[in-house]
Amino acid sequence: MFLVWSLLVIATLANANDLFGTWTTKSRDVFTGPGFYDPLNDRLLEPNLTGISYSFDDDGNYESAYYRAISNPTDPSCPGGILQWQHGSYTVFGNGTLVLTPIAVDGRQLLSEPCRKQSGQYTRYNTTEQFNEFSVYIDKFNQLKRLDLTKADGSILHPMFLAYQPPKMLPTTTLNPTPGHKRKRELSSESGFQLIAREQLINPDRWWWLGVLMTSFGGVAFFCS
Ligand SMILES: *[C@@H]1O[C@H](CO)[C@@H](O)[C@H](O)[C@H]1NC(C)=O
Ligand SMILES: *[C@@H]1O[C@H](CO)[C@@H](O)[C@H](O)[C@H]1NC(C)=O
Ligand SMILES: *[C@@H]1O[C@H](CO)[C@@H](O)[C@H](O)[C@H]1NC(C)=O
Repeated sequence: MFLVWSLLVIATLANANDLFGTWTTKSRDVFTGPGFYDPLNDRLLEPNLTGISYSFDDDGNYESAYYRAISNPTDPSCPGGILQWQHGSYTVFGNGTLVLTPIAVDGRQLLSEPCRKQSGQYTRYNTTEQFNEFSVYIDKFNQLKRLDLTKADGSILHPMFLAYQPPKMLPTTTLNPTPGHKRKRELSSESGFQLIAREQLINPDRWWWLGVLMTSFGGVAFFCS
């Protein structure tokens, strides 16, 4: 009985050291670091597939990258997309709660709703995140190290798997302390991109239809020749 109890305690009391590394969801296409946010040109770079990535170093710094589709209730065939990037410091409390406090001036968000608004909206983004608990363990299906973050409402964020150790992160200091003229302009202007269009291209159902179409065109071409 005591053994079972102590095993449970060991299993649930995750250690801050377990967070060390870069984690990503199963699309393995979204990673923190210079491939997601380019601080020199102040631009978010659009990955090919949606996903989430978090990185933690061993000095209390974190970085997060989100790329998500957002449904469009008025026109379900035309979803939007959102890119969010933040970095800052993290704290693990004795009760297992993990709090991520961003550097407020550095966070960025790019929202694109192609069928609702003409262009993407590029803005600052500053949201403190609290996870009531986290756990790191070997996933029994793919044998990869897995990180589960439990949100304040008890739901679990999409599982993430270890991608890099040491983590792939941008410099952990403040990147944009005072927006200059150039930055200001770029922040207010849209950065043209075709957010969700590419994800749709990769949708296997569409590839299947493309195949059907190509085959029938091929058939027509053959027929006519
Ligand atoms: C997206 O996919 C293309 C083709 O596979 C690849 O060349 C490109 O590097 C990818 N881009 C990103 C950001 O992963
Ligand atoms: C960032 O968010 C925190 C917590 O919500 C808030 O206290 C702070 O004023 C915000 N900073 C900026 C620059 O928006
Ligand atoms: C854990 O402790 C921290 C700091 O005292 C607190 O902010 C947080 O709400 C606590 N977590 C839970 C789940 O009660």
